[in-house]
Amino acid sequence: MSDSTTPGQSVLLSAKNLSVRFGGVLAVNKVSFDVRRGEVFTLIGPNGAGKTTVFNLISRIYVPTEGEISFEGQQLSKVAPHDVARLGIARTFQNIELFEHATVLQNLLIGRHTHRETGLWSDLFFSKKTRTAELAAREKVEQVIELLDLQHYRESLVAGLPYGVRKVVELARALCTEPKLLLLDEPSSGLNTEETDDMVFWIRDIQHELGVTVLMVEHDMSLVSKVSDRVLAMNQGEMLALGTPQEVQAHPGVIEAYLGSVGDMSNLRRAA
Ligand SMILES: Nc1ncnc2c1ncn2[C@@H]1O[C@H](COP(=O)(O)OP(=O)(O)OP(=O)(O)O)[C@@H](O)[C@H]1O
Ligand SMILES: [Mg+2]
Repeated sequence: MSDSTTPGQSVLLSAKNLSVRFGGVLAVNKVSFDVRRGEVFTLIGPNGAGKTTVFNLISRIYVPTEGEISFEGQQLSKVAPHDVARLGIARTFQNIELFEHATVLQNLLIGRHTHRETGLWSDLFFSKKTRTAELAAREKVEQVIELLDLQHYRESLVAGLPYGVRKVVELARALCTEPKLLLLDEPSSGLNTEETDDMVFWIRDIQHELGVTVLMVEHDMSLVSKVSDRVLAMNQGEMLALGTPQEVQAHPGVIEAYLGSVGDMSNLRRAA
């Protein structure tokens, strides 16, 4: 694989020789890649390739059998799982995970909680520090609501919202933590064509307006090509190809991996 980070280019997250085994299955096998600050880096591959498992390793839900991940030069294995968000890593899930019986606004304010630095006593007496923190939280939440065009749904219960809107709310909640790195697991799955087009714009805005680095898993190659700076293709836990979206789509190993399931690269989404 030809793609290496040129000297001087800032690396935000680095995975080195990463493996994880579940019983007899090597879900991720010696995977190495760097995510550069400011880019959209996408993992593609057929079902079961190990993409979500890579996210779960970064989130510290799984412990690697071998290898290491570092974020801003800090080894994640030395960070407690509940402190990963505090470092500046946020994620959305392949299956949306929100508080269904809370409003959109409440869900977004919960997203802010990694930022709370006030203590119990300060909160009880509603100190100046607490008021300032509360105001900052509200301000950030309102900024995200505006960016993702969610004004209309602010007071709606999540449970009653269409799937496409819930997907955007989940994205909004992750952004409210003000992450440096945003992990998106299949942002377009379950969305119709129009909603998928909107997702292209949201991801570009997140990258360019908020300056957030994005690591994404995605099956829709049209969306992948539109937003990704670089793509890593995986199959059965292993790295197949790393490069620009065009380079990776043209790679014989990638075409072969998909041929088994669909026979046509343009229909990757249907392979999912
Ligand atoms: N907790 C687990 N226990 C056992 N096996 C697991 C576990 N998590 C993942 N696997 C296995 O690891 C492999 C990779 O799964 P993973 O969910 O990472 O695939 P994926 O690339 O995200 O696929 P999809 O496109 O279907 O979401 C699969 O064989 C899966 O069954
Ligand atoms: Mg997955």
